[in-house]
Amino acid sequence: MNFELSTLKASGAGRKKCDVMLVLLTEAFTPDPTPLSTLIASVLKSGDLAEKPGSLLDIYRPAGLACARLIIVQTGDGGVAEVRKAINAAVSLVKASNPKHIALYFVQNPDAPVLRLALTTVAEASYVYVTTKTKKEERSIKRVTVGMPNSSVLASDFERGVAAILGIELAKEWANLPPNHATPSLLAKAAQALAKFPRIVCEVLDSKAVAKLGMGAFMAVAQGSHEPLRFIVLRYNGSPKSTDPVVLVGKGITFDSGGISIKPAADMDEMKFDMSGAASVLGVFRALADLQPKLNVVGLIPSCENLPGGRSVKPGDVVTSMSGQTIEILNTDAEGRLVLCDALTYAERFKPRAVVDIATLTGACVIALGGVRSGFFSTDDALTAAFLKAGESSQDLCWPMPLDEEYAEALKTNFADVANVGGRPAGVITAAKFLQRFTEKYVWAHLDIAGTAWKTGLAKGATGRPVGLLLDYLLATE
Ligand code: BES
Ligand code: MN
Ligand code: ZN
Repeated sequence: MNFELSTLKASGAGRKKCDVMLVLLTEAFTPDPTPLSTLIASVLKSGDLAEKPGSLLDIYRPAGLACARLIIVQTGDGGVAEVRKAINAAVSLVKASNPKHIALYFVQNPDAPVLRLALTTVAEASYVYVTTKTKKEERSIKRVTVGMPNSSVLASDFERGVAAILGIELAKEWANLPPNHATPSLLAKAAQALAKFPRIVCEVLDSKAVAKLGMGAFMAVAQGSHEPLRFIVLRYNGSPKSTDPVVLVGKGITFDSGGISIKPAADMDEMKFDMSGAASVLGVFRALADLQPKLNVVGLIPSCENLPGGRSVKPGDVVTSMSGQTIEILNTDAEGRLVLCDALTYAERFKPRAVVDIATLTGACVIALGGVRSGFFSTDDALTAAFLKAGESSQDLCWPMPLDEEYAEALKTNFADVANVGGRPAGVITAAKFLQRFTEKYVWAHLDIAGTAWKTGLAKGATGRPVGLLLDYLLATE
């Protein structure tokens, strides 16, 4: 998809050739004598377009205007919620006619987050997965023009929005791919492909290298599968070496059957999304490649399958993590924290300014926060504030969860330093408490994206979250 930003007044918008012109009307609309503006004023006056936010009017070949189809929609005060609804409604309305070029015309300059949201919403609403289908019904919308009275003040936000979409779509593609098309080795190839962009380098460690590092927890998860594990190290070097990097750690379980603690059969296919954290790291690097900001970022992806078999790790097994801590694996389905803990220890070597892990970690997070906000954990107030802010600007929201020491009680065991599961209570928090044990050497945050990274039901598929959130956090540190 191609996006272009232009300064448009009602006169220019009326002359803009396109398949669909979507006019985002706000309460502040003031008519002028141009054809488009006159038309809007008359539909308002006649009552054919109600004042109520969400009201929409669809006009075919409007006289005197260059667009083939004009949609006028009321967005109230032009806030994020209304604009999201308006664009979703308009795109689903025109989808059947396969428009190639659509234009969004804001009668009033939107706020930066609203513009960004408008871009991601068009992309989201028009996205189609095609890779493993033989009849490739690709996305029809190829070109999106965004016009407003004064576009220059929003040029950098526009650029960032377009970069975010590149990242979001890469993350979606990899998370959506079936598990036999997105093995750890193939994921590593996708990471290596990113190294063709300036300032990105990629290194991939195999089982032998991982064994040498002493990543006993990661290896324990991988040992039940015939697919070899991969430990992916991506670097984006946009700043001098002396600048401490932010390290992103993405859970890369390409299929989570639960292992010996096997999951029920129903919906097990959805556990192909268990590498969404890894996919979001790839997505962030794709966006960095596009924007080339002045900062250093490291991406770490421990990737393997979690399968039952004769060599699988068993409930009761005790393994030694790279940190030296021993872990009793009471439930092999709590595998994410096992692969992450070794990656978190590996992260120490980068002297990170901050380490953020991203994981579809717990079903408990889905119950707690659903698909609206990702669970956010950190004891660092500045980092928490930065993420809340990045959530608002990207409209990729998260919410702070507690890390009280009392929650760690549940992980005590007689047979190792720590158990990999607590009970059912506060499962989203006890998982975070487990990870926290491996993060003493740096400032750390954990994002549980089990509820936000993908959707079930009819809309089943990856969302590309939290690429937008991570990108805004990183760019604010530039
Ligand atoms: N990948 C799952 C978490 C998950 C569940 C993500 C549902 C998305 C939707 C994770 O590896 C897992 O199985 N967690 C267990 C932990 C439990 C055994 C303590 C869970 O949440 O049930
Ligand atoms: Mn699991
Ligand atoms: Zn998992």
